[in-house]
Amino acid sequence: MKSQILNKAIKLTLGCSVVAFASMSAMAELTVGFAQTGSESGWRTAFTNATKAEAESRGYNFKFSDGQGKQENQIKAIRSFIAQGVDGIVLAPLVTTGWDKVLKEAQRAKIPVVLVDRGLDSDSSLYVTSVGSDFTMEGAMIGAWLAVETEGTCDIVELQGAVGADAAIKRQAGFANVIQNFPGMEIIASQTGSWSATGGKEVMESFLKTYGGDNICAVWAHNDNMAIGAAQAIKEAGLKPSKDILIGSVDAIADIFKTMADGETNVTLELSPYQGAAAFDALEDHLAGKDVPKRITVPGGLFYPDTAAAEYANRK
Ligand code: AHR
Repeated sequence: MKSQILNKAIKLTLGCSVVAFASMSAMAELTVGFAQTGSESGWRTAFTNATKAEAESRGYNFKFSDGQGKQENQIKAIRSFIAQGVDGIVLAPLVTTGWDKVLKEAQRAKIPVVLVDRGLDSDSSLYVTSVGSDFTMEGAMIGAWLAVETEGTCDIVELQGAVGADAAIKRQAGFANVIQNFPGMEIIASQTGSWSATGGKEVMESFLKTYGGDNICAVWAHNDNMAIGAAQAIKEAGLKPSKDILIGSVDAIADIFKTMADGETNVTLELSPYQGAAAFDALEDHLAGKDVPKRITVPGGLFYPDTAAAEYANRK
């Protein structure tokens, strides 16, 4: 119950815009290229699967490229899509920089590009729209939760996402913006865990060694996989994750609800894996000559242990 009331309150105050998903406007068979980042996390895999299913349900000739965590692979994929003369390109940019050249090539070829999940720092005239969550708000929501939970007194360690990723940059800023208002709250260590459970575990082990578990009040993990790794490290250090050390993260993948139902993490914020539908809607509208807003924000909500077991049953 607490979770629904708080979610509604936060949404109302932050005034999130909502996207109506999946208006099934059927277009003549579209050939669409999707340049994905890779498969670095449970959320990424869920997002890829949902996007492939959405493309199939729309009857697209869908060309999927897995960037394997390298920007040069994504750039190569976009160039191949351009050479194939696709009708549109959907891009989940691995990092925020280095896209101007290839986006200009797509523009010269008159092939529209829709950004999904993450943004980039090129001029917005080079893409149709950017679909994604408000990453800054995500960081702020976890910061607000922790401030309430600890009454504004907490030494925090941060598990960052991959360096240069829009999600990591903005989540870090959003969280820091909130906790700077609380003199008793401080980030005592911050390092990338590469979005993975292994990475999260290794970095958390080094934090525990350096600072000692008794001196760490909470873990702020930019995604659930790293939070799951951190919980493992905390347990192996003989401490109770979510009790001795609080844990907050983002994504709401199925596995985090298992960990939360087991009493080992405290909160997660959902990042919708169904963003592909909104990206395809935008592309279809653009191709139909309709105006498309430059930014389309997808909503997300906070989840707590009181609903974790049910969420896990629904999502596993
Ligand atoms: O861009 C979104 C982030 O990318 C997700 O939170 C993370 O799990 C993924 O790797």
